Amino acid sequence: MSLIDVRNVSFSYTRQRKTLHDVSLTLEKGRNLGIVGESGSGKTTLLRILLGLNRPTTGDVSFEGKRLDPRNREFMRRFRCGVQAVFQDPYSSLDPRQRVFDIIAEPLRSLGIEGDRRTAVMQAMSAVGLTADAAERYPHEFSGGQRQRIAIARAIVSRPDVILADEVVSALDLSTRIRIVELLKDLSQTTTFVLVSHDLSLVSSLCEDVIILERGHIVESGKTRDILANPSHAYTRTLLASIPRMPV
Ligand SMILES: Nc1ncnc2c1ncn2[C@@H]1O[C@H](COP(=O)(O)OP(=O)(O)OP(=O)(O)O)[C@@H](O)[C@H]1O
Ligand SMILES: [Mg+2]
Repeated sequence: MSLIDVRNVSFSYTRQRKTLHDVSLTLEKGRNLGIVGESGSGKTTLLRILLGLNRPTTGDVSFEGKRLDPRNREFMRRFRCGVQAVFQDPYSSLDPRQRVFDIIAEPLRSLGIEGDRRTAVMQAMSAVGLTADAAERYPHEFSGGQRQRIAIARAIVSRPDVILADEVVSALDLSTRIRIVELLKDLSQTTTFVLVSHDLSLVSSLCEDVIILERGHIVESGKTRDILANPSHAYTRTLLASIPRMPV
């Protein structure tokens, strides 16, 4: 089943220059998708399109087979429950004035999800390996890896079908990074990830499918295994050669 479909999307921030050129992709349930490309290739821009934060200049985005339409408020609410995000920087993505409990509960509040919020927050914390006492503390009391766990707990608390993750481990040291990658692997059993990274080795350990972006164009897409074994595009070969292999 396809969760998200992007059809022929182009996007420009300014009149002079296109950032994304005729991008199409399908996110299948249960198949993590990696988006790889160098800095400035348009990865975050594409992720913001998938989140509905950037509206495509042309083309469209569908969720569960239906086009995103800001006028259809009930559908957009379902979409926002179903698609959550984790951003790159665990230091700036958490409000320093809020307790961890309130940070993680935020999607439940903003999406108006009824039910036992304390239980939902505690389950999310336990799923990411945070102990219950963390709930009453503030983000500055945690390390980078723990903060990223808090951000991941916030993303899973509404039990989304999809999590969009933008360079989630790039700010972390190697051992923390390995533990977070293990956590993402566990969570992929119930949630489908879109993982943005400049690191092909990370993508190959987590994602069944991959697209390679170069200056806003998809230059290669398909099964990660096939593309890594047999990159058909010169740019992919350059990326493969330039990235040190990490033991994850
Ligand atoms: N708000 C903005 N206004 C104008 N141009 C922007 C804006 N955000 C990004 N861009 C430009 O769009 C292009 C793609 O940027 P984007 O952030 O999507 O790249 P990226 O692949 O995520 O890069 P990185 O790996 O460095 O995070 C870049 O040329 C960037 O300068
Ligand atoms: Mg980016």
